Amino acid sequence: MQNGIQVAIDGPASAGKSTVAKLVAKRFNYVYCDTGAMYRVVTLAALQQGIAMDGTKQIADLARQVKISFKPGDPEQRVFLNGEEVTTAIRQGEIDNNVSAVAAIPAVRQEMTNQQRQIAQTGGIVMDGRDIGSTVLPNAPVKIFMVATAHERARRRYVENKEKGIATASLAELQHEIELRDQKDSSRKVSPLVQAPDAIRLDTTKLTIDEVVDKISDIIKKTLNEL
Ligand code: DC
Repeated sequence: MQNGIQVAIDGPASAGKSTVAKLVAKRFNYVYCDTGAMYRVVTLAALQQGIAMDGTKQIADLARQVKISFKPGDPEQRVFLNGEEVTTAIRQGEIDNNVSAVAAIPAVRQEMTNQQRQIAQTGGIVMDGRDIGSTVLPNAPVKIFMVATAHERARRRYVENKEKGIATASLAELQHEIELRDQKDSSRKVSPLVQAPDAIRLDTTKLTIDEVVDKISDIIKKTLNEL
């Protein structure tokens, strides 16, 4: 019986990656790491300190200084910035609108990538983000690229915001924001959102969460059998 493997799940905003990744991790008893949350924590820290979003050097310094940590939680993993819980704070609209700028800073990406590789050394891990299969864990034996239409992703985010009691923009506004973020994430110079050549593309537009979790679980089991 071998130890767990690395599972990389990438894709655009609100494709359902975190929900699915967390459930897959639970099923295999693997560690789950939400890398988007890490970029969100750095963004929150910068906003709290009044650093302008074009303050590249200051934000990069901050990324190296802040302590980002996770604790298992139900239904959501809990996220901490220097020991203070920020699980809800990092999901606010202000973070949504500024996080792409922070994630585009090469030195910030370098620091997050280092920390993510460190976390992935634990063995069985499910890590979700934009560049996990392409950059962070290029040797991961399982790489999934999850997609869904912008309309469906906006609908999911809308429902999620309502359920969490987060003030939400309209469906049309959310779709517009998602398309804008896709465009920024795909066109940035460092680690843009791209499908790794060896990743399996999974269109979740018409699939339920359980169906997606089952499909990924089957891929993991097949890979484990072949190792
Ligand atoms: O998945 P999310 O919406 O929480 O991600 C927040 C932002 O961070 C999004 O603009 C993309 C960026 N991101 C990234 O550039 N690389 C990652 N590995 C994860 C997220």
